[in-house]
Amino acid sequence: MKRIGVLVSGGGTNLQAVIDACESGIIRSGKIVSVLSSDENAYALTRAAKAGIPTAVISRKNFSSADFDRAICEHMKKNEVDLIVMAGFMCIVGENLLREFEGKIINVHPSLIPSFCGEGFYGLRVHSAALDYGVKVTGATVHFVTDVVDGGKIIAQKAVEVYEDDTPETLQRRVMEKAEWVILPRAIEEICAK
Ligand code: GAR
Repeated sequence: MKRIGVLVSGGGTNLQAVIDACESGIIRSGKIVSVLSSDENAYALTRAAKAGIPTAVISRKNFSSADFDRAICEHMKKNEVDLIVMAGFMCIVGENLLREFEGKIINVHPSLIPSFCGEGFYGLRVHSAALDYGVKVTGATVHFVTDVVDGGKIIAQKAVEVYEDDTPETLQRRVMEKAEWVILPRAIEEICAK
């Protein structure tokens, strides 16, 4: 059974999808041992607590980026984590974590990479950019995390149709429901089962 550490910053619907997948057996080769948030007010922390999962907060605003990176790295090592899942984590990870957990960090991104990704593309901004561009299809990607933002090897993708009357919010919801919450748990099981 692989030990999974989840990094979150906000609402935690992707975390919820992973928790549900552990309960339903979609994920059977791994278990979440820690949920770490960069924001003490993230609702994701409540979701984890309700599921009986230990939580921790390393507040981005209280650390320099190097110390933030080191603190996350120490936490994951202390918890003997095998796989780090960035599930709505709105911070860029640094070199310590990338070195210590090389090939063991994955992220879910709400577009079909290489579209609408990289620095500055996160959360609703991604969907606003997709609508501004006028794409008819978007989606989500699960990929390995490297020092190139959203540039690591792609593990899974799923396309989602864009509707004429979409707003960033309606599009975000559809991408989450139809793509992110489906491909993230499957990718986790695939990696943990190896
Ligand atoms: C999700 O759409 C996730 O893909 C995105 O933020 C949202 C978080 O929602 N992540 C990024 O944009 C990272 N680049 P959640 O907290 O409900 O899972």
